[in-house]
Amino acid sequence: MSTRTPSTVRLLVTVQKTGLGAVSSHRSYSPLPIDPLARFRSIADATPTKPRVLITGSLGQLGRGLNTVYKYMYGDVVTMTDIVKVPTDAADVSSYQYLDVLSQGAMEEAVVNNRIDTLIHFSALLSAVGEQNVPLAIQVNCRGVENVLEVAKKHRLRVFIPSTIGAFGPSTPRDSTPDCTVQEPTTIYGVSKIYAERLGEYYHSKFGVDFRCLRFPGIISATKPGGGTTDYAIKIFYDALQYGKHVCYLRPDTKLPMMYDTDCMSSVVQFLTAPPNLLHRRTYNVTGFSFTPEEIATSIQKILPNFKIEYNICPIRQAIADSWPRSLDDSGAARDWGWKAEYGLEETVQVMLALIERDMAKLAPEEVTAQI
Ligand SMILES: NC(=O)c1ccc[n+]([C@@H]2O[C@H](COP(=O)([O-])OP(=O)(O)OC[C@H]3O[C@@H](n4cnc5c(N)ncnc54)[C@H](O)[C@@H]3O)[C@@H](O)[C@H]2O)c1
Repeated sequence: MSTRTPSTVRLLVTVQKTGLGAVSSHRSYSPLPIDPLARFRSIADATPTKPRVLITGSLGQLGRGLNTVYKYMYGDVVTMTDIVKVPTDAADVSSYQYLDVLSQGAMEEAVVNNRIDTLIHFSALLSAVGEQNVPLAIQVNCRGVENVLEVAKKHRLRVFIPSTIGAFGPSTPRDSTPDCTVQEPTTIYGVSKIYAERLGEYYHSKFGVDFRCLRFPGIISATKPGGGTTDYAIKIFYDALQYGKHVCYLRPDTKLPMMYDTDCMSSVVQFLTAPPNLLHRRTYNVTGFSFTPEEIATSIQKILPNFKIEYNICPIRQAIADSWPRSLDDSGAARDWGWKAEYGLEETVQVMLALIERDMAKLAPEEVTAQI
């Protein structure tokens, strides 16, 4: 497709062009048996009509990567929005405007002015940050969703709102947690995400809003995480390369489901292009693989043999992790719209180390610390 600009697809193209081998001058990484762009190419080819997308909270961990994916697939179709300034080095951020999701009027204006047909709602306060400021979490996570759904209803938008493993709780079956099960979360994050799931389903059945929702596990990407309980699974890579050591805030045997960034992006674009008649529900689980801090440390040691992990347990984050599923059953998404993750633990470790090592080579240590 002529609109694709591979040079801008930082993360994906790096992996493809170099097969990881050329990324590092110190280590050699075996090429992965994955073409990270293939799924995006085939989705774009199968759905040539360009969407017009608005992403809220787009400067967080997931938003910029998704913008990059859309740019690769369709050119400049995304209006990125958030309430923070664009970082000075963010060459990938082209079309950006300030949008506080607490203002329904401003959201409507952005949708109308940019002729939006697809609204991806990423603004949220995540699990650990939400516990520190409950009233704000209720505002952003609940009022924000209400505004999104009202605007979607009025302007007939397709709307994507991610949910999370945090929408489950201690009474949920913790292994192979199914799409439909007990949901009694113990965090304000989880409570607000159930609200988003149920309100979205209600707007779908009552008003015909094309609401779509995926429950993500912890997402691993070479970008700054936003204050969730699974953040250690990103920081561990930066620490491994910078200090040779990571102090983990979870117990060594804390198993949680996770997914690599490219799989996460693929789940969103694939789900958003799935024909409505294939969907037997509007909220699906998606996942990659599960591991403990001990297991990811062992995988990192296969590439960095001197890497060490130590533990200094944070009771708040440990309690949250102990209330979440150890693994997710995403067979509903696989059956209904063909979802399949491509990255396992070993592939994720290789890509993360290669990408971060390349980035760190360009940054001063204090800048790297500020990034994470
Ligand atoms: N990252 C993960 O591991 C993960 C896992 C499960 C679900 N999710 C969900 O995916 C979505 C995106 O997650 P993320 O990791 O990118 O989050 P993040 O915390 O990195 O980014 C959230 C963004 O929302 C913005 N924001 C906060 N208040 C706002 C407001 N009033 N108006 C507009 N924007 C506001 C913040 O500035 C931030 O850039 C969230 O809904 C999150 O719950 C993420």
